[in-house]
Amino acid sequence: MKVLVTGGAGYIGSHTSLVLLNKGYEVICVDNFSNSKMESVLRVEKLTGKKIKFYEADVCDKEAMDKIFSENEIDAVIHFAGLKAVGESVSIPLRYYENNLVSTFALMEAMEKHGCNNIIFSSSATVYGNPASVPITEDFPNSTTNPYGTTKLFIERILTDYAYANKNFNPVILRYFNPVGAHESGMIGEDHKDIPNNLVPYITQTAVGKREKVNIFGDDYPTPDGTGVRDYIHVMDLAEGHAAALKLFEKGNCGLKIYNLGTGRGYSVLEMVKAFSKAFGKEIPYAIAPRRPGDIPECYADPKKAYEELGWKAVKTLDDMCQDSLRWQTMNPNGYDD
Ligand SMILES: NC(=O)c1ccc[n+]([C@@H]2O[C@H](COP(=O)([O-])OP(=O)(O)OC[C@H]3O[C@@H](n4cnc5c(N)ncnc54)[C@H](O)[C@@H]3O)[C@@H](O)[C@H]2O)c1
Repeated sequence: MKVLVTGGAGYIGSHTSLVLLNKGYEVICVDNFSNSKMESVLRVEKLTGKKIKFYEADVCDKEAMDKIFSENEIDAVIHFAGLKAVGESVSIPLRYYENNLVSTFALMEAMEKHGCNNIIFSSSATVYGNPASVPITEDFPNSTTNPYGTTKLFIERILTDYAYANKNFNPVILRYFNPVGAHESGMIGEDHKDIPNNLVPYITQTAVGKREKVNIFGDDYPTPDGTGVRDYIHVMDLAEGHAAALKLFEKGNCGLKIYNLGTGRGYSVLEMVKAFSKAFGKEIPYAIAPRRPGDIPECYADPKKAYEELGWKAVKTLDDMCQDSLRWQTMNPNGYDD
């Protein structure tokens, strides 16, 4: 099976490409390096001993997408390409709407023209807004609190409407909770162009002395220790989730499917800092800061549907997440620039 991975040089895209290559899929990647580097692709090739057919292009570029589909008989697409920084999306919303939506239109147009009906889309738990309760099942109401989340929700709707009009179209929407960790080799991981958006890179950078302390935003939430609770999922588990979803296409038409990819277990920010301190063998300094606007107290998945229908569940432990994140950080203090 030939799989086009958009955003394949990025964090989740590189780990998923590695898993797919190891399972015998042919991987074609497209990326414009707006948030990544070619080095990640080269390392995936090194780790797997297999080649990736790589295109440096913008997915918004219709001609480039047409060329990729003309040159390859693509069976399925995994659409990771997109801008993902929540805070940045509030400051420059048009850039987010344009990049995330136009790329999806250009991709779907090329898919339609070339008769490719299978797509896995990277959505996010952010489409549940501030959930009324936890754990969250796929049928919870949707809402968003920032432009990034709205792009995800819009794309989900576009895929849904298109699937309604085209009975052979098979969009599989995967709603990720909080991806963390890195491949166990320490060779690939999450690289940041500038300031990280998520908690774990802050913790690992503080652990190795690149930052003074971890700021914990709010310790008065209605959670067991007052700090925010999230469902952290190891990126290799997430990558396996995509491989499990691809199997749906091998069985024939599956139509629209939506799955949560999470562990079903929430950890608080304080628990995460303590777990990393234990894994690192040294206290990681932290300080309590005021709540950030838009943050929600608690968010974790009910991942039962993915287990029942895809046979997938997260198997990595919190200790794996800590050890693998720290290994990546220690081996690559400056990310792929090292
Ligand atoms: N990491 C998370 O916390 C998280 C959580 C939920 C959902 N997601 C979604 O998963 C997907 C992958 O996330 P990630 O963490 O790997 O992000 P990432 O930034 O590491 O990877 C995205 C890749 O897409 C590329 N890209 C962006 N716009 C492009 C365009 N127009 N044309 C070509 N390439 C383009 C970037 O250069 C980058 O390599 C994103 O869509 C993101 O919104 C991520």
